[in-house]
Amino acid sequence: MAEILYGKPVADAVKAGLRSRIAALKEKGIQPGLAVLLVGEDPASCIYVRNKGRACEELGIYSETLRLPGDTEAAVLSAKIDELNANKRIHGILVQMPLPKPLNEQAVIRRILPEKDVDGFHPFNVGSMVQGINTFLPCTPAGILKMMEYYDIRPAGKHVVIVGRSNIVGKPMANLLCQKSPIANATVTLCHTATENLKSHTLQADILIAAAGVPAMIREDMVREGAVVIDVGVNRVPDAAARNGTRLCGDVDFDAVSRRAAAITPVPGGVGLMTIAMLMQNTVEAAEKQP
Ligand code: GUN
Repeated sequence: MAEILYGKPVADAVKAGLRSRIAALKEKGIQPGLAVLLVGEDPASCIYVRNKGRACEELGIYSETLRLPGDTEAAVLSAKIDELNANKRIHGILVQMPLPKPLNEQAVIRRILPEKDVDGFHPFNVGSMVQGINTFLPCTPAGILKMMEYYDIRPAGKHVVIVGRSNIVGKPMANLLCQKSPIANATVTLCHTATENLKSHTLQADILIAAAGVPAMIREDMVREGAVVIDVGVNRVPDAAARNGTRLCGDVDFDAVSRRAAAITPVPGGVGLMTIAMLMQNTVEAAEKQP
């Protein structure tokens, strides 16, 4: 049976490191501040946003959550971002994705000042990341790297197969893992919806990262014996036995795959906790850097 790689001890270690940095900022009269913008009422997004607010509260980070209706016009959203860009109390701005149509996500991201872009989604920060320049890293890929470090999973020289090419996880993850760095240095294969014979690729993975957003798509026969499996999926699926009739399910068929893998992250309780911890880290870093 696979070792279960829980996110909590890693997230707790990250947060413990942040507490002293937050205290040092307080000495200088600075409280890190995060603004979260939520447009519409996507249930998963509402839960993420609530969890982000709670994490801020736990650490003593100032937070504001702005909830805008789903039919908010682009100009209204832009004006809100401009206000937050100019607000000295706010060091980090996060616009929860996905945005309802017809809002243009790329235009919204570009409106955020790069120095307040704690998601690491602005093209300036993405470009810096690709070139290996120190910048805000997207929270989920950064959290996965942290988890690997904590559990002594060394990707250097290994074959990492990523399933999913989103701007939030797959693409930045592939990029970070192929960088020439002691915590990366992997050979990376990026699979996606047009990949032919997906299983032929996943079976070659020393480390398999599932970030496709498809419930339980990674089956036991797609995983090499002894592989490390990182499940990024957060899917809500029907479950008659559950109190509200649904449950959370990753992109990996957990019970079956854990018989084959050497180690596996659970859903919930795995990577998701890391995303929030890294957001807190980016917010503290933003506060440290801003005058
Ligand atoms: N939606 C899912 N993950 C994320 C994230 O890390 N940041 C933002 N802004 N939206 C998301």
